[in-house]
Order: sequence, then structure tokens, then C-alpha cells
Amino acid sequence: NWTMSNFIEQEISRIRGLVGPTDHVIGAVSGGVDSTVAAKLMQEAIADRFHAVLVDNGVMRLNECQQVKQTLAQHLGINLKIVDGAERFLNGLAGVTEPEQKRKFIGGCFIDLFEEEAVKIEKAQENAPSPGKVKWFLQGTLYPDVIESLSFKGPSATIKSHHNVGGLPQRMIDGQGLKLIEPLRELFKDEVREMGRQLGIHEDLVMRHPFPGPGLAIRILGEVTAERVDIARRADDIYISMIREAGIYNDMSQAYAGLDSSRSVGVMGDKREYGYIVILRAVRTSDFMTAEAYEFDWALLKRITSRIVNEIQGVSRVVYDSTSKPPGTIELE
Ligand code: XMP
Repeated sequence: NWTMSNFIEQEISRIRGLVGPTDHVIGAVSGGVDSTVAAKLMQEAIADRFHAVLVDNGVMRLNECQQVKQTLAQHLGINLKIVDGAERFLNGLAGVTEPEQKRKFIGGCFIDLFEEEAVKIEKAQENAPSPGKVKWFLQGTLYPDVIESLSFKGPSATIKSHHNVGGLPQRMIDGQGLKLIEPLRELFKDEVREMGRQLGIHEDLVMRHPFPGPGLAIRILGEVTAERVDIARRADDIYISMIREAGIYNDMSQAYAGLDSSRSVGVMGDKREYGYIVILRAVRTSDFMTAEAYEFDWALLKRITSRIVNEIQGVSRVVYDSTSKPPGTIELE
């Protein structure tokens, strides 16, 4: 007799058994539903032996890190530590245009920062009442993440080193360093959402669109620079807030504004300007393996377009991506 509350109870005791009575867990929390549910579960299981960390990789959305910290503190009593890696990530991404290379670098740098943080947590604990080793690394990996990264194999190579799963360095896969703990590994998105509700997580957070680990970097075609991140961020912020105001956020599964790699000529006032091209995407899907482009209301799309072009200097054009998946993917890279 399978019920979600039974499953939660079982998972909590499984985690306690696995982690043991003294080990500590460091958790990657992004503010999305998966990592938040995983963090809440971990907190229920081992309380303050769980350390929630958000690595700011410089390609998060506008004000996102601070907002996530606040939400987690207010609603869930989770004390999230933000590790500022923005400069390190952006320096490493300079000159990188190949999508797989972006993912690999971001995944590698992400794990490096977590390992460094785990060492700091251990040091800080030396005089604590129950000092323990940080042995585990929590990720909110879901079942579709696992299959997409295993099954997307071409004849010679993986098409995408997808998701949380694909970006891990070999030493972790080989079981050296931090050990992976992935309590949601057998669940689908709708099941994780249900679990979130049962754990008392706010509906807005439960229904949040997924946001990929490599962040805006795979929505910015070509090189990721501070300037281009800034433009993509501001366009995305306008787009998503207008979607929310229109009351259609929950009608789409994922939406974002990205940036083309080239530029295009536009007319600004009485002169021609060579500006950025913003790409708007919105899809509906149930499993994220296939997806349909969202059928936007034309008048709303035009209002969004004119706000983006008018408010963000350097943008000359806005286009809407009407491609389904397949053949397109949800992200641009
Ligand atoms: P695609 O673009 O492959 O995306 O249609 C399907 C779903 O997976 C997310 N996605 C990622 N998530 N790391 C992640 O954590 C990644 O490298 C990655 N690539 C895609 C995407 O946002 C969508 O929800």
C-alpha cells in the first residue's frame, strides 16, 4: 500500500541508516523544487548535521540567490549558505562557446567549490559538541535526469552530458571524495511536487519551473560574458514577471529568455544600432522528454517584446522560439 507519506517516512529512515549517527551531509540547493525537497527531507532526517549550500555560479537569474536564501529561511527554517563563485565561473567561461565544454566546466567548478566548502565546514566544527566528517553530497537528482543522461548516447559519444548526473567529475563517480546521496532518484517531477506539498513547502516553490544546473550559460548562445549575462537576466526578469502578472505561469512548464550568439541591426530613434537578439522560449510538457511550444497570446507577446526592447539598452530584436522537442530541446544548448 504505497502512499506518499509512507514513502517520506521510509526515505527519512533510509537516509538516517545510510548516513549513520555522526556523519555530516553537504547539500547543493538551488531554490528549485527538487533540491528544496531533498534539503527538507535531509533536514527532517539529520537536522543540523545537514548543511545547505547554494553556489552562486554567476549565471543565476536576477536577484535569485538572495531570494532563495530568504524563502528557505522564512518558510522552511533552512539556513542556506551562499558561496560566491561568480568571478571564478565567469573567468573560466571566458572564450568558451562549445555547449558541452560549458557544462563540463560549470559542473567541475561547482563540485570543486563544494569540496572546498565541505573542508571549511569540518574545520569550523572541530570544537563543536558532535564534530563529524562531511562525507556526503546531496543532490536532488530525479529519475528523468538519470535516464536522460544515460540514454542520450550517440554512436560514439554522449549527446549531452546532461543534468546534475553528467557533470560530476570521475573521482566522485569512482567513489572517492564526497559520496553522493540522491533521495529523489526514483521519482518523477509530479511525485516530487506531491512530496513537497506533504512536507509543507509553499505552492509557489512547488510549482516553480525547472532551472538547469548550468543556469543562463546554456541559454546564452556563444560566449558567456558579464555583459551578456546581464542582458539575458534583465530580459528574463521582464518576461517571467509579465507571464506571472498575466496569470499563465502555471500553464507552461518552463519559460525563459535567452540570447542569440549574433547581433542584428535595429533602428533606435533616428539611428541604426547593432544590437542583441533576445530569444523567448516557453514550453508545455509533462515529462520534459518531449515538449510543445506554448501558444502565446499575440498581444501579450508584443507587449513583452516592446518592454524588453525599450527597457534594455543594446537589445534590438526579440524572437519567439516555436520549436517543439524533438527536434529542438528545451534549453538552447
Ligand atoms: P533539454 O534542453 O535537454 O532539457 O530539452 C530538458 C530538461 O532538462 C533541463 N536541463 C538541465 N538541467 N543540467 C540541469 O540540471 C543541465 O545540463 C541541463 N540541460 C537541460 C532543462 O532545463 C529541462 O527542464
